[in-house]
Amino acid sequence: HNGTLSIDPAFTVAPVNRRVFGSFVEHMGRCVYGGIYEPGHPTADDSGFRGDVLALVRELGVTAVRYPGGNFVSGYRWEDGVGPVGDRPTRLDPAWRTVETNAFGLNEFMEWSRKAEVEPIMAMNLGTRGLQEAVDLLEYANHPEGTALSDARVEHGVKEPHGIRMWCLGNEMDGPWQLGHKTATEYGRLAAETARAMRQFDPGLELVACGSSGRSMPTFGSWEATVLEHTYDVVDLVSAHAYYQLDGEDVASFLASSVDMDLFIREVIATADHVGAKLSSAKRINIAFDEWNVWYLREMQAGGLPDDWTEAPRLSEDAYTALDAVVVGSLLITLLKHADRVTVACQAQLVNTISAIRCEPDGPAWRQSIFHPFALTARHAQGEVLDLRLDVPTLSTSKHGDVPVLDSVATWDAATGRLAVFVVNRDPAEEVAVSAQLRGFGEVGLVEATLVGDDDLFAVNTVDEPDRVVPTAHPAAAMDGTILRATLPPASWSMFLLQ
Ligand code: AHR
Repeated sequence: HNGTLSIDPAFTVAPVNRRVFGSFVEHMGRCVYGGIYEPGHPTADDSGFRGDVLALVRELGVTAVRYPGGNFVSGYRWEDGVGPVGDRPTRLDPAWRTVETNAFGLNEFMEWSRKAEVEPIMAMNLGTRGLQEAVDLLEYANHPEGTALSDARVEHGVKEPHGIRMWCLGNEMDGPWQLGHKTATEYGRLAAETARAMRQFDPGLELVACGSSGRSMPTFGSWEATVLEHTYDVVDLVSAHAYYQLDGEDVASFLASSVDMDLFIREVIATADHVGAKLSSAKRINIAFDEWNVWYLREMQAGGLPDDWTEAPRLSEDAYTALDAVVVGSLLITLLKHADRVTVACQAQLVNTISAIRCEPDGPAWRQSIFHPFALTARHAQGEVLDLRLDVPTLSTSKHGDVPVLDSVATWDAATGRLAVFVVNRDPAEEVAVSAQLRGFGEVGLVEATLVGDDDLFAVNTVDEPDRVVPTAHPAAAMDGTILRATLPPASWSMFLLQ
């Protein structure tokens, strides 16, 4: 195939919001215990935080981290995780059939996020708990001192208030699997009351209402509409969650997963704006895509949760393939294309569980294949997001119909004169000769051309071979006057940097 891209600095969408390079740390499997936190590990600091994992988190370029769940949060008592560790109760976490020691809680997470240089996004339990516990947590975390709750924090060794700005009002409350699952009306009322109360403490908070836990949920669309009718004036964002996996041998549909994500985003925007129109509101609700990734959920469902209650069992330690990395790269393209409305996004999750980073107890940490497109995009997507015009052939897929064979987005940083172009070739079998017209950028040269993909689409990085799947230099990309020319291999993700 041949494809052309037209890129112009005038076609701006919105500035790159750094929060779209967020991630997610849940008390699930070995994400916290044996992931970011492993006292006694050779690289652990005095607080028990693994130094090798911290270094990889920084290299990944993660900017914000949602915590502590996920399904876990809907049964969580935040008070269990603060105060002297020896006094903290051990509890059962029914969401993941796990014994929770509470050795790691809010204050540990906040200390870790400072070391990781990420903004915290705190989720609250609106499953088994409600308004009072939410405002208690807010007061404990953010009030300076002089009240019972804020003084308790000071006694717990944290003098300065945490100043957490962004809060999620529950998690996936539309899902029947969720502890305390609610109807849209029940949840909408609870979320609105909780948001209103939180704003009485601090009007400047940024609040996220739960949207749908997937586009295929039977309540999708009506859930968002009802929840936003209750919460429109008191929340800033509505969440969206999506996980994709390869079904059988249908590589073409899997490579086109971002078509579904794109529709999901458009449909949530349409629904939110419809509610805004009904309310005659000039306010716009944005999207926090606060869980997204490739996840082999089917395998987890087939295996079921552990029979025995244990601490930090291995859950969903998916070993990601080169193909998964291409899909992750294309999902990032889609998130960036919607920079005007998707202002927060969190890849789920960060370490060991459904993660970009893996590590072994007492052993090494390594980058999964999906680490690479994330790190490259987070580092090089700077400035303004540009809306491209594509002229490319279509590819027929069984799940998504006919889809453009390429998808692409660019970012332009006028201050540095740096243009970054991200392109995915979703064709599993054919290469695409692409030419990108860059007339509007003056004289730019190609600085770097990087490829993620592999002749073996199922190659993975393992503890023994941690660098099996790594980015490589694009073989024959070059400038031809104002035109960038390159050949995109089948099932590949590419990044071109120009200056
Ligand atoms: O990220 C894993 C789980 O996926 C989360 O706990 C839940 O919110 C979602 O269903």
